[in-house]
Amino acid sequence: MSSSYEEVFTRSLTDPDGFWSEAAEEVSWIKTWDKVIDTSNPPFYRWFQGGVMNTCYNAVDLHVETGRADQAALIHDSPVTDTVKTFTYRELRDEISAFAGALANHGVIKGDRVIIYMPMVPEAVIAMLACARLGAIHSVVFGGFAANELAVRIDDCEPRIIVSASCGIEVDRVIPYKPLLDTAIELASHKPKTCIILQRPMEKCELIPNRDMDWTEAVDVAEPHDCVPVFATDPLYILYTSGTTGEPKGVIRDNGGHAVALKWSMKYIYGVEPGEVFWSASDVGWVVGHSYIVYAPLFNGNTTVLFEGKPVGTPDAGAFWRVISQHKVGVFFTAPTAFRAIKKEDPKGKLIKNYDLSRFKTLFLAGERLDPATLQWAEEKLGVPVIDHWWQTETGWPICANSLGIEKLPIKEGSPTKAVPGMDVRVVDNNAQEVNPGEIGALVIKLPLPPGTFPTLWNADERFIEAYFSEFPGYYKTADAGFIDEDGYVFVMSRTDDIINVAGHRLSTGAIEEVLAAHQNVAECAVIGVADQLKGQLPLGFLVLSAGVNRSHAEIVNEIVNMVRDRIGPVASFKIATVVERLPKTRSGKILRGTMKKIADGEEYKIPATIDDPEILAEVATALEEIGYPS
Ligand code: COA
Ligand code: AMP
Repeated sequence: MSSSYEEVFTRSLTDPDGFWSEAAEEVSWIKTWDKVIDTSNPPFYRWFQGGVMNTCYNAVDLHVETGRADQAALIHDSPVTDTVKTFTYRELRDEISAFAGALANHGVIKGDRVIIYMPMVPEAVIAMLACARLGAIHSVVFGGFAANELAVRIDDCEPRIIVSASCGIEVDRVIPYKPLLDTAIELASHKPKTCIILQRPMEKCELIPNRDMDWTEAVDVAEPHDCVPVFATDPLYILYTSGTTGEPKGVIRDNGGHAVALKWSMKYIYGVEPGEVFWSASDVGWVVGHSYIVYAPLFNGNTTVLFEGKPVGTPDAGAFWRVISQHKVGVFFTAPTAFRAIKKEDPKGKLIKNYDLSRFKTLFLAGERLDPATLQWAEEKLGVPVIDHWWQTETGWPICANSLGIEKLPIKEGSPTKAVPGMDVRVVDNNAQEVNPGEIGALVIKLPLPPGTFPTLWNADERFIEAYFSEFPGYYKTADAGFIDEDGYVFVMSRTDDIINVAGHRLSTGAIEEVLAAHQNVAECAVIGVADQLKGQLPLGFLVLSAGVNRSHAEIVNEIVNMVRDRIGPVASFKIATVVERLPKTRSGKILRGTMKKIADGEEYKIPATIDDPEILAEVATALEEIGYPS
């Protein structure tokens, strides 16, 4: 008899050792662990201590040896280059071991860092797994970031090698990557000795002698490299995510706990059997891409799809249905914003009818709040369960979901259902006291966090404690606010910090403010996330100019927009700013961003009792009106 969600969830918390050691039996170990969880130094918990394994072996070689050698492992579907290329597990293993050999030829050994700055090409996946094969630590940087962001990451993790490509393609525009890479290395203090560059035929680039190496040439002279044993607790990757300042946080993932949790999640959360086709339409530069394009589907012996396209414009709003039908996708995962983009172009979902979606069984959405209109549209047009689930870069896999492989629970609109096994989610007030069902507070997770979550931040143990564990002792602070209802359903309402969510991408308004403040004419500034029908939120800047500046405001705004694009990148989607005389503040000088946001969104607001000068709110409203807000 199968167990109910309540039974499985309860056991995960009352007997974590038994629960996760059973899950760990699904992973191939060179040596089993000495301890399931080491709790001796909280909040630095260590899962499967003493265990030895290799992540790439579990993702690829294991399947070659156990009957899946000729099954498709990876399908690269690229409408922007009009190509589809499939790699079987055997072919993928051979490509990975050859590239691992190339990395080793250039001195990469266990523990070295390798930055991967690439578009959505199979070589990005091959490079990630080649690092895992060697026990090297990869750090993938999303292509939509500017050179400066790449430079910050280079200096923080000090890679031995950077792997990149000549260009990416955004719908119909070729985006040269190499100039960004060259600028980043110029800006950075740490200089990697070697860059391995994939030359794409759409736009080749110049290689710098004695530093840059062509991917094909590097592989041609390399011998295949075998898997290097690593400890379960050794780092597999670093993934930088927005913090509350311009300094991104280097989230670390370990090898053993990650393999255990991700493989478990495929069966029990996503309800996917080995051999099925699983597609996550994200980017390898984000955590969703790491976990559910690359690692989890491969650990589970699935076929994974790497899609180099967009929900609309490549070529139309039927792109997702075409991919699902052509590759017989069973389970599909994307962000609500992608559905809003499709709905805008094809509100009646007419294009869906052109494709055979008979193999498609579930849609998972995450990355931002799932608005009821998008949920209803997707359910009605697709006729499959639509599952909202909540997670973060830090956790690496879902915190809350409808765990379909255990028991499908009734769906409640606006809720990503209940905490998944291992995640003891609570709601607390400012004094770390639990609140009653239905009351809003800080969403926290009681320690220890389950395997697969981040053990620390790269080179920043103190920041790890300070940012996540100091405010609510004994809990992990998610920095999301919300409530849990009488039935145990979790509702995620908003962030408690300065992070905004733009098209499912996590951005720090503080980091954008740092760029605005660097403009020579800006005396003071503030950035808020204003509601947007397509992207969920968009950053909007307020600028107070220095005394005596008489330049055209439009010109200054234009310069500021370009500065953000140059320093953070196009992914910030920063296009709106307005000049104001003064910023509304409390008497102690705190800028009232929350109130400004309410005015911009056209929501009711109370004049805060602590406000210094209420008249400034009217000035803000007028400035917003001039640029079309509330929209
Ligand atoms: N390399 C270079 N530039 C990139 C890039 C990349 N990998 N990814 C995005 N950009 C650029 C875009 O071209 C755009 O530039 P522009 O301002 O010149 O138009 C800018 O960054 C903003 O990108 P995005 O926010 O993605 O907006 P968009 O208008 O191109 O597309 C959506 C909007 C909704 C279609 C798109 O965001 C999407 O498909 N989202 C799916 C959700 C998703 O992937 N979430 C990730 C977490 S699950
Ligand atoms: P990231 O680390 O980029 O994955 O962003 C994580 C943040 O995205 C979370 O802290 C939430 O604010 C938001 N988020 C992700 N999934 C959901 C969801 N299903 N519902 C509401 N917010 C979400």
